[in-house]
Amino acid sequence: MSKRRIGILTGGGDCAGLNAVIRAVTKKAILEQGYEVFGYEDGYEGVIHNRYRPLAFDDVSGILTLGGTILGTSNKANPFKYAVKADGKVTFEDRSRDAVHNIQDLGLECLVCIGGDGTLTIANKLCEMGVPVVGVPKTIDNDIRGTDITFGFDSAVEIVTEGIDRIHSTAQSHHRVMIIEVMGRTAGWIALHSGVAGGGDIILLPEIPYDINKVAERVLKRGKEGKRFSIIVVAEGAKPIGGEVTVKKIVEDSHEKVRLGGISFRLVSDVEALTGLEARAVVMGHLQRGGTPSSFDRVLATRLGTRVVDMIEAGQFGHMCGVRCDGLVNVPLSEVARGPRLVDPADPLIRSARSIGVIFGD
Ligand code: F6P
Repeated sequence: MSKRRIGILTGGGDCAGLNAVIRAVTKKAILEQGYEVFGYEDGYEGVIHNRYRPLAFDDVSGILTLGGTILGTSNKANPFKYAVKADGKVTFEDRSRDAVHNIQDLGLECLVCIGGDGTLTIANKLCEMGVPVVGVPKTIDNDIRGTDITFGFDSAVEIVTEGIDRIHSTAQSHHRVMIIEVMGRTAGWIALHSGVAGGGDIILLPEIPYDINKVAERVLKRGKEGKRFSIIVVAEGAKPIGGEVTVKKIVEDSHEKVRLGGISFRLVSDVEALTGLEARAVVMGHLQRGGTPSSFDRVLATRLGTRVVDMIEAGQFGHMCGVRCDGLVNVPLSEVARGPRLVDPADPLIRSARSIGVIFGD
């Protein structure tokens, strides 16, 4: 009798902990259920073009600490809106039927989709077309609805915090305003947590538009109090009151075209002009996504990966495994499509930060 089969894919931007999830799903599925496991290459790109490989127990041994994803990923491939480039022009095709056909042809009982809102929303649509799927929420941005935390976030915050610690030396030695720009798209979770952990003086979030005069006043006030430097942590999605976000790039063949970035350079000019002090920008960029996962993310990835195998056994398709008050819960994938989970300006961490003198530019 042929073995039961499941598939795995990783989609969207990479982050620390993806391999830890692949490892957990594969090991448990093989050890406890005797499944054959297949990994699609480069996210939905592999599903559309039927590129996959078997994942044996040994293939996922020794990958717990590895950054990135052994399967590869894509933040462009969308079976429902697949970008085709011809003569310098981009057009979109619906390749969802190919995707469904390939999954069914391989005889998969379930496809485990590890990804952010884009990947999970596509998973939900495939499920509506009859493909049994379960999801594992991933992103450094921590902005997925239905879960209190995503794996990858803790590792990113660790990296930024170490960066801020190092930048403190130059800020103090040169009496400068150092502006650290972090990722997060429209959500300020990374800026908030790393800003607090790194002892930032001013933290600017997308959820709280800032008044540049308040930022400059705080820098000057610190100077008068004998603090001749300031650390500003800014989320890439932050914007001034009444102003717009800073767009770095438009990626035409991506289903999420806008890439944010560059706000820190705008702040350097504004702060220098208003305070007469020297300022520098440091963009943490893709450093936040790379490298070995933190111990927290390894544990979370293992909990999520093993839990989704139970979900498959229980036939709980069309759901992802979320975290609520440190417990694991099933969340309908349709919940994710309702938009990003943003920081509440009344978040207790914002209140704590304000109570020790941190300002948010409002
Ligand atoms: O969603 C993860 C993320 O790193 C965001 O924080 C960031 O805005 C975006 O992806 C960057 O995307 P790319 O790697 O395509 O530049």
